Amino acid sequence: MPLVPPYIESLVPYEAGRTIESIRRQYGLSRVIKLASNENPLGTSPRAVEALRRSLEGLNFYPNGGLDLREVLAHKFRVKVENVIAGSGSDSIMSGIIRAFLCDDDEVLTTEAAFIGFQTLARSRGVRYRTVPYREWHYDLPALAREINARTKIIYLANPNNPTGTIFTRDEFEDFYRHVPERVLIILDEAYFEYAQDDPLYPDSMQYRYDNVITLRTFSKVYGLAGLRVGYGFAHEELIRNLLKVKLPFEPSSPAQSAAIAALSDDEFVRRTVEANEEALAELSAGLKEIGLPCAPSRANFVMTVLPSEEEARRIFEELLSQGIVVRPLKAFGLPHCLRISTGAGDENRVCVEALRRSYVASTRPSPIAG
Ligand SMILES: Cc1ncc(COP(=O)(O)O)c(C=O)c1O
Repeated sequence: MPLVPPYIESLVPYEAGRTIESIRRQYGLSRVIKLASNENPLGTSPRAVEALRRSLEGLNFYPNGGLDLREVLAHKFRVKVENVIAGSGSDSIMSGIIRAFLCDDDEVLTTEAAFIGFQTLARSRGVRYRTVPYREWHYDLPALAREINARTKIIYLANPNNPTGTIFTRDEFEDFYRHVPERVLIILDEAYFEYAQDDPLYPDSMQYRYDNVITLRTFSKVYGLAGLRVGYGFAHEELIRNLLKVKLPFEPSSPAQSAAIAALSDDEFVRRTVEANEEALAELSAGLKEIGLPCAPSRANFVMTVLPSEEEARRIFEELLSQGIVVRPLKAFGLPHCLRISTGAGDENRVCVEALRRSYVASTRPSPIAG
């Protein structure tokens, strides 16, 4: 009997984005622009930082399992505390969902090249993992509905989606939902909810409250707290009750919980972040279009661009890196010919587009010698 089950042996450990400092040192650069991990380029909610400072008194005490945060979230979203869970990032809650609900013969269904965090968690459970192809970089919800079978237990949908940035609309989701049996759980991962919520076509899953839908959200993006690891979820109390059984008891940490509670009241920071993101998205998308690089229509805080080949994607990634511009190659997601570029602040988007232009246009311009 092998020490490691084959479905674990075949996994590749998640490769976290490199730190600015390590890139600066490797290439001897004075400036590094990190556009690789969909972080908030404006920093962190000032209210969260202040609360974090105050929370350092009392680190000798264990946290209360996220109860304070759950109460604040319940109040804000007008649900019962029994409908809310909080953990160390939405990744952690996803991990709980996989552990709480999947049996050995169950199947997971999602899109091709889904969010890498979910892919890895689902595959590490050793169940059958099935996907359907994108339709023009959007979830193909009708195709997903057709693929549901008696073994399907979890359907994972990220809206906006990572890595494409695209959304599915309210009508598309409602139509899809009609085809999903009640015994199938839908994870609606809304990590980028705040960036998309003003789009009238975008479905806010909190307005549905279907008994088999688990909404996941995070403090990592719009609140700028990725380093602290806090995420949350809403679902029917029966689902939450079971998730609480497998949750690591002391997540999130007390400083994380205090910062998250303060961040929730920082409407000004959220507004600034979303406005800056709109501008940055427009700048990045227009720049890519001008260069002739196709990109999927994004409602998140990043854009995905499609290169002619895997080699070209790798070459451009490395050229940008050597100039101190870090973007995300998507090979690990399953899209080796694509790159994902997070929105930056100030001149970061323009500098990135200029570097892309130099790298891409130079390579596609016919050589004068070859005629
Ligand atoms: C779609 C999606 N879900 C979840 C996460 C993870 O969020 P957290 O930092 O809360 O674990 C991310 C982070 O990039 C994401 O893109």
